[in-house]
Amino acid sequence: MQESSTTQSRVFTSVERRAVPRTSPVKAYNIADLRLAARRALPRGLFEFVDRGTENEYALRSMRAAIERVGFRPRVLVDVSARTQKTSLFGIPADMPLAVAPTGAAGLLWFDGEIEIARAAARANIPFTLSTASIVSLERVADEAGGRLWFQLYMFPDRQLSYELVDRVRSAGYEALIVTVDTPVTPNREYNRHNGFTLPMRINRSNALDVACHPRWLFNVFARYMLHSGIPTLENYPESMKRRLDQAPSPLKNDSVSWDDLKELRKRWNGPLIVKGILRADDAQRARECGADALIVSNHGGRNLDASVPPFAVLPEIVDKVGTSMDVMIDGGLQRGSDIVKALAIGAKCAFVGRAPLWGVAVDGEAGAFLALDILRTEIDRVLAFTGSPSLQAVDRSLLHLDDTNFPAPQ
Ligand SMILES: Cc1cc2nc3c(=O)[nH]c(=O)nc-3n(C[C@H](O)[C@H](O)[C@H](O)COP(=O)(O)O)c2cc1C
Repeated sequence: MQESSTTQSRVFTSVERRAVPRTSPVKAYNIADLRLAARRALPRGLFEFVDRGTENEYALRSMRAAIERVGFRPRVLVDVSARTQKTSLFGIPADMPLAVAPTGAAGLLWFDGEIEIARAAARANIPFTLSTASIVSLERVADEAGGRLWFQLYMFPDRQLSYELVDRVRSAGYEALIVTVDTPVTPNREYNRHNGFTLPMRINRSNALDVACHPRWLFNVFARYMLHSGIPTLENYPESMKRRLDQAPSPLKNDSVSWDDLKELRKRWNGPLIVKGILRADDAQRARECGADALIVSNHGGRNLDASVPPFAVLPEIVDKVGTSMDVMIDGGLQRGSDIVKALAIGAKCAFVGRAPLWGVAVDGEAGAFLALDILRTEIDRVLAFTGSPSLQAVDRSLLHLDDTNFPAPQ
């Protein structure tokens, strides 16, 4: 990191928050329950846009399988009565080893959804990442949500427009910049075409019945946007690009992004710079050499290259290569506290969750998103107790068991 993040970022205090947070009455005991509730609440096209992967959905399945292959070898008779999962990210305390991943169009799940999730993250005292492709503008999220805000950048084909976006992100007080590097072209999500789902989302012949069968969503989300500002669109995009969003070739994707772009961004961004979408140790090393402070081992939640390796499977080699010189983070398929503790035991500094808070916000706005994060907090706490870990310092590879062999020791 070239300069302390706290010098330029704005970390809001709870006093600046607007309303007293509400506890969700939704009966959900785990993230799977929230997913089912979200499936009932959302039109099918929107639910599948969030839930599904790409092509044959191999990446989705293998992501889970890689996590489930690992088990714990608990330490017993350890006093864990004062256990804590607190950590610090870029020198700032966080109550959990977790951050909210960037998810485009989250604002379609609930009116002003990005603000609601960001508030939930602030209440959980963890960072929230806003996607370039958000429905609510980055300035409104900064003004209305509070908490620790990180921004995810997709480089536009016109670099100058991206640099102007980075200037807006800095002026709005975001703490960290996450550059996503795993999406050079539009992924092949065939189910979106079957469902008539597009971004911006339009009501058309293919989805009209589906939408009509979800009146709560239609009136509380879509109709509210229509009354306030018209068809919900991707508000961070420059006006010239907004007009072309659903035209081919997509103005969202840039297949010429290279390591030189990362070096240039490093020059333009003084706060923490995180590279998202790394699946190889040599790329991790290269990101470090370009000045990145951290990276996220990720296959985009199984939504891009369907035949990609699961992040969990390559996490050990990436940690072994760069883990002493930069923070290695991970996302993809993490649905239980135990999944997160396993990643930390391999050597991840923290984990990100994408779909989990989306399910929460879809069923109950901020309170639902907070419920999702709180479920994970409670689960992490329980796993720490069961594995004899009074703090995250005690969480290491000796706790892990891979299939019928011991987990490979750090090199
Ligand atoms: C609906 C949805 C939209 C997403 N949009 C983005 C995005 O705009 N930028 C990005 O870098 N990743 C995006 N992702 C990927 C997430 O940041 C993250 O890598 C992934 O969701 C992690 O897997 P999980 O959902 O199983 O936790 C998106 C994921 C979902 C589910």
